[in-house]
Amino acid sequence: MSERTKNLPRRSCHATPGSNEKMLGKAPGLGADMVFLDLEDSVSPLEKEAAREKIVKAINEQDWGDTVLCVRVNAWDTEWTYRDVTYIVENASERLDEIMLPKVQSAAEVVALDLLLTQIEKTMGHSRRVGIEAQIETARGLINVEEICAASDRLETIIFGPADFAASTEMPVLTGGVQIPEYPGDHFHYVFSKILMAGRANGLQVIDGPFLKIRELDALRDYAMRTRILGFDGKWSLHPDQVTVINEVFTPTQEQFDKAFDILEAYEKATTEGERRGAVMFGDEMIDEASRKMATKFVTRGERAGMTRSAS
Ligand code: GLV
Ligand code: MG
Repeated sequence: MSERTKNLPRRSCHATPGSNEKMLGKAPGLGADMVFLDLEDSVSPLEKEAAREKIVKAINEQDWGDTVLCVRVNAWDTEWTYRDVTYIVENASERLDEIMLPKVQSAAEVVALDLLLTQIEKTMGHSRRVGIEAQIETARGLINVEEICAASDRLETIIFGPADFAASTEMPVLTGGVQIPEYPGDHFHYVFSKILMAGRANGLQVIDGPFLKIRELDALRDYAMRTRILGFDGKWSLHPDQVTVINEVFTPTQEQFDKAFDILEAYEKATTEGERRGAVMFGDEMIDEASRKMATKFVTRGERAGMTRSAS
């Protein structure tokens, strides 16, 4: 992993086709916490090689500020992966934070990428260590997600890819990542929960993939709220308009942020002063050590999003 980015916010993770110079040029200014420059499915097979050069130029010549900067390479079952990784990591500046590996099916695929990165870094004398983001988007990948999440200390995130996943499991849908009203419940609930557990058990950030109906911003807000409530850290955006909605959904409200601080203060006082109690009333609810842990998460997320406590 890269020490710089492991814990940086990834509320919105913006997909940018590596073959499109105009989109590459706009990507740093969209307000996304993370941007990935794509060599995989948003790039035509005939443009893959040219896209590598465009991506390196964009990484080296554009000002990316604090954005987490990633390149998605092609999956190991294509002929492009090793050249994607070698070309990008050898030629991109130290500003490149991570490589994203799509359609990960087994821990061995992550280990293979880790070994290749290690050789490139040694050969080139790089002091930085490139991190890895892994996408779970096949039935086999989901079955192996626990081993995948533990496969390398370069891993920073685990990501759900709903479009490829629907294809892999042969769901009768033609649009990825959206709600299916005919299904009583959430057709991805099991998948979301399984990926979340595997990611959290290994200290990774957990990210939801794209919502393909890019003009339906209210539906996006509604759908993004599902993974936000479960505990995911962020979601992909495919269009600049989606970035704002996603940043909003994955940031605590000011009320939640302030309440979390109040809980931390009340708990600290209760445990260290007077009778030094472990469980104490906070308004009309009981708080204890678990409450402290929950509140800490809100504070950390809010602070990562640049929030400050309201004056009391
Ligand atoms: C993303 O890559 C997806 O397949 O949903
Ligand atoms: Mg995919």
